[in-house]
Order: sequence, then structure tokens, then C-alpha cells
Amino acid sequence: MDATPPISDAYLEDLAYVHDDSFGFIATGAAKTLAAKLTERGLSSGLVIELACGSGISSALLMSAGYDVLGYDISAPMIEIARERAAAVPPPAPPYGVPAAAVHAPNAEFRVASLYDAEFAPCIAVTGVGEAFNYLFDPRAGFESMCAVFSRAFDAIAPGGVLMFDIAEPGRAMPRLEHHVWQGDGWHVVSETIEFPHERILERRIKTTRAGPDGERVTDELHRLALYDHEEAYEALRSVGFAPLTLASYAEDFRFGTGHGAFMAVKPYAA
Ligand SMILES: C[S@@+](CC[C@H](N)C(=O)[O-])C[C@H]1O[C@@H](n2cnc3c(N)ncnc32)[C@H](O)[C@@H]1O
Repeated sequence: MDATPPISDAYLEDLAYVHDDSFGFIATGAAKTLAAKLTERGLSSGLVIELACGSGISSALLMSAGYDVLGYDISAPMIEIARERAAAVPPPAPPYGVPAAAVHAPNAEFRVASLYDAEFAPCIAVTGVGEAFNYLFDPRAGFESMCAVFSRAFDAIAPGGVLMFDIAEPGRAMPRLEHHVWQGDGWHVVSETIEFPHERILERRIKTTRAGPDGERVTDELHRLALYDHEEAYEALRSVGFAPLTLASYAEDFRFGTGHGAFMAVKPYAA
């Protein structure tokens, strides 16, 4: 008997395409921030587990920096793009005088699965970039489930490694209703965001229009997110054993604003 609860459709083909086409700056900055932190901590290779990896933009950058990647996402179209992108990542150039065969060619594996079902293999880092823990597509999502992931990540991460992620917080939609229109080559997206402060819920209604050989195709998606308090998340990380820092930005690519916070949580070396 399958005990898995029903998971809502998320990031269908056209929105996955649009996200990959034009909204990769957060993942790009996140990968730079993570690679810099790992290098600073002397971790120049090892496994990074990417929860809600999307189309693999950060994963490919991490591979180029020499890391192995295990990515999870509930969107099959996202994972399809991630696999294609990873297959095109060239092996790292060997340092002068080192034969190419002696250089580790990073491995990448991408699975269509909820992050709440992820297997946490021993690793040096876990990421949740792009409000991974806020999305309510999986009915198990919520603050307690996020904290359970913190705990599982802590056990899997090697001493000195990190958990890095960002979360949507109360005040994400300011004022309470936001209307956005974006367009790119062959597509446009209209999104309406409403925040329900008492319920600590954010709803994004996203209408994606994309041109195809048979004309325009319109897809509607409803994204519901639970909003988490920054200080409560910080304390939860500390209670699991992490030494968390709040991030102001992901590299120079994305600066966090009101209602959007991020953490770099270090697993200390054994005392
Ligand atoms: C804003 S996108 C970010 C994707 C990627 N990390 C990036 O920054 O480009 C959010 C992603 O979270 C994924 N997602 C939402 N809930 C999830 C869950 N329970 N398990 C795995 N992936 C999830 C969505 O499918 C989507 O790809």
C-alpha cells in the first residue's frame, strides 16, 4: 500500500522553463556563496545534497567547482532540465602538470521526490535554495517538518560542513497584495501574490503563457507557502547543534529583502 500523501502539481513544464530561463540569479548566487564557504572551510570536494534543486542551476555550478551533487525536486520538468544541464558540465580542468585522469569528475544524480522523503547520505553540505521549506505542495510541509530536516541534515553533514537555505517570512508580500508581470522570449507570466498575515500563509497565483508550434499555451498554478519567523528558525538550527549565521545576500547576485531571510548554518567540529 502506498502511504505517500498526495503532492500537488508544481512547476509544470512551462513554469519550469520560465524559471530556468530567467529566474536563475538566486541559484547562481547561492552556489557562489556555498562554494566560497566550503573552500574557506577546506572542503574542496565531497557531496552536496540539494533539496528543491529545481533546474539544477546551482548544482551545475557546484559540479564545476568540483563537488558531487544529489538533487531532489518534486517537479519532473525541473529535474529533466537539471539532468540535461548536468550532463553538459565539462570535467574540471586539471591543474598544471596533473594528468586529466587524476582529476575527480563530479557525479550528479537527480531524483523526482519530495524533500521530505530525501535520503541523507553522508555529505559536506545540504541546501534548500528558493524557499524550499515554505512550499505547501507536500501536505507534510511546515515548520516542524523543516526542523526535522535540520536534524536529519545535521546527522548527515560532516563536521565543518554546512546547511544553507533561505525562507519566506512574514512580510514577504508588501503591501499584502503584489501584482507582477514578467516576459521573456516566447513567454510571459502574470503573478498575483497575497499574504494572509494571521494564517502566516502566502499565495501566489501564477499564469504562464508560452508560445509553441500550435499557438499559445496558458498554464495556471497556485503556490501556497507557509511563512516562518526568522528568529524561530535561527533558534531551531541552534537547538539541533548548528552554529547559524544570517546571510544578507547570495553573493552579489541576490540581496534578501523584507520577508525573505537566509541562513548559513555550520556544523561545528566535535568539541
Ligand atoms: C523557487 S523554485 C527554486 C528552485 C531552485 N532551487 C533554484 O533556486 O533555482 C522552488 C522549487 O521547490 C520545489 N519544491 C517545492 N516543494 C518541494 C518539496 N516538498 N520537495 C522537493 N521540491 C520541492 C519546486 O518544485 C521548485 O523547483
